[in-house]
Amino acid sequence: MPPGQGKGYSSPATRGWGRLAGHAAPVAQLDRVAASEAAGRGFESRRARQTDLHTQSLLPRAQFEPIAPDATVLPGFATGEADALCAQLQELLLTSPWRHMLTPGGQRMSVEMTNCGRVGWISDRAGYRYQSIDPQSGRQWPPMPAAWSKLATRAAAAAGFARFEPDVCLVNRYIPGARLSLHQDRNERDFAAPVVSVSLGLPALFLFGGMQREDPTRRIVLFHGDVVVWGGTLRLAFHGVQPIADGEHAATGRCRINLTFRRAL
Ligand code: SIN
Ligand code: FE2
Repeated sequence: MPPGQGKGYSSPATRGWGRLAGHAAPVAQLDRVAASEAAGRGFESRRARQTDLHTQSLLPRAQFEPIAPDATVLPGFATGEADALCAQLQELLLTSPWRHMLTPGGQRMSVEMTNCGRVGWISDRAGYRYQSIDPQSGRQWPPMPAAWSKLATRAAAAAGFARFEPDVCLVNRYIPGARLSLHQDRNERDFAAPVVSVSLGLPALFLFGGMQREDPTRRIVLFHGDVVVWGGTLRLAFHGVQPIADGEHAATGRCRINLTFRRAL
């Protein structure tokens, strides 16, 4: 079955957008809050945004929330394993700690990163690429824990992409204010495999657009334990993360962590 089928997709008119439609107003409100913060006003707005996100996390949630054919949110898919993921991440960090990478243009990324798997994604003045040696430690990236790749395989299958076997997991850490601008994940050799993204800790506004940078984006609130899977016709869709709002999460403390599983080689 081709990816994207067998998940009960229907026409946009009848599609149940679940959390997206149901929370259109609060999300728009979040954007206004973000804009007013950017303009230098502040504390009340931040509180309002936190309250809103925490309220949303308590609302009933569907098992699948289609963003579009070939892109699906699996709310809470990883919640049961989240504590184990966080504990295993601590181990990986002993070998390959967090670091801010430089963009090819020389800017320090606000996100801190590490990797595990057969290769790791890096960015520096020379560009973006995968390599098997962590340039900071001079050693191989730590192996991907078996439980991590199994989780990614299960999530991909649940979203319609059978037999996904990731060989790399990029790990991002967002402290409040950190963001990731709109981009495509295009450094992998083969775009047949999907991308599986696991969110832990503080909530995020995830932007999911189309194949052109200018295409309209959907704003999707991602909570602790949520998984997003995209591939097939949307494998190269532009996506990004808006600045993370301040807060504390029992699992991660004052940050959001994202794991993206990919097939790089
Ligand atoms: C990424 O695009 O690599 C990460 C996305 C996220 O943090 O949700
Ligand atoms: Fe990405």
